[in-house]
Amino acid sequence: MTDLKLTPEETALLEGAEGPGVQRAMEIVVTLGRIYGAPDLVPVRHVQIAGVSYKNLGDAGVAFLNEWAEEGARVRVPATLNPAGMELERWQEMGFSPDFAKPQMEAIKAFVKMGVTPTMSCTPYLFPDYAPQRGEHLAWAESSAVAWANSVVGAFTNREGGPSALAAAIVGRTARYGYHLPENRRATHVVEISCPVRSIADFGALSYMVGKRVGDGVPWFADLAAWLPPLPEDITLGGDAGDRLKTLGAGLAAYGAVALYHVAGYTPEARAQGEALIRADARRIVIDSLAEGYGVMDANPEVTAIDLVTLGCPHASISELRRIAARLKGEKLATRLWITTSQITRARAAEEGLVAIIEAAGGEVVADTCAVVAPVRSLGVRTMATNAGKMANYAPMHSGVKMRYGDMEQCLDAAISGRWKNS
Ligand code: F3S
Repeated sequence: MTDLKLTPEETALLEGAEGPGVQRAMEIVVTLGRIYGAPDLVPVRHVQIAGVSYKNLGDAGVAFLNEWAEEGARVRVPATLNPAGMELERWQEMGFSPDFAKPQMEAIKAFVKMGVTPTMSCTPYLFPDYAPQRGEHLAWAESSAVAWANSVVGAFTNREGGPSALAAAIVGRTARYGYHLPENRRATHVVEISCPVRSIADFGALSYMVGKRVGDGVPWFADLAAWLPPLPEDITLGGDAGDRLKTLGAGLAAYGAVALYHVAGYTPEARAQGEALIRADARRIVIDSLAEGYGVMDANPEVTAIDLVTLGCPHASISELRRIAARLKGEKLATRLWITTSQITRARAAEEGLVAIIEAAGGEVVADTCAVVAPVRSLGVRTMATNAGKMANYAPMHSGVKMRYGDMEQCLDAAISGRWKNS
């Protein structure tokens, strides 16, 4: 424990000047600061709260949120929510039971009462109103979004827990430790890649191999820029580069505990500081084939009949929806297809006519949730296919499904034919 310095205003909040709800939040932030040796607290511009699904919260979690809201806790900076366990508007139509929907809605009501905006998405960085800027301090709890904010944007955030992110939103601050400090942002591993990394699925396989080796370190990708087109000027579109980096960060965080990576000559801190950003004791990792990653993620090669094909983990960008609609135009699907995204991106896709094309083929553009946080087994799903590295890991673990893994085209072919074709 170290001496954490608080301003008079922060001390007052800790002593209960604004009621028990704010006091409880300040206690959480201060306790974490003391545990991690933070010198002080830092104001945050935006908070992303995870752990929203009733599947994760359970009744105890819902009761805790209600109690906090009843105590008068209100957020003082913009705060948004991760996906819930179901689509909020269409849960009945999609087959979710009222036993799940009722407590799920109750949890969301408690968040809303505290002033949180129910965006229900893991990609706040794709929203024009919330996209972070370089150098901003944030308190984000969604691990895939943390990797994006730190790495692609050069913002500063630790990987918060659900309650600590909400606490940071209520007091508008977080403890200054970890990735809020420049000295902790230097690379611990240098990754050299000598094989092609072409598709989103390739980036997912790479994320497994690097995440496993790096753990909670900071990888420096020495030559990955060769496989990345430039990011679009409007980064909220995703684009080919954004869609690959979205998957890379999600998989690094899921298979390791990576919150920050650098791509030489590409990501902002790597461009600004060059190899000075690599620690002298950094370890070298060489990747010359992605076969190991595919072997683990495409975990059930015996499965060919697919119950649910799911794309959009992290939530699909508009550029992914454009690619999917282009492939599905005029097709009829033989199996269920979910493209999971946010309400905001779905509305954007609907305006472009993409949702109509996908629905005409029999696919569903599902907002607010994903196949990990939704109780998909209760919808009868036993086998799934995806192009997303994180989904390939989490869905079998959280929902006990069998998984096939491949690139988007292979997944869409499986949705059209109902069967996975081994390549
Ligand atoms: Fe998002 Fe669900 Fe994937 S929360 S990162 S779509 S597992």
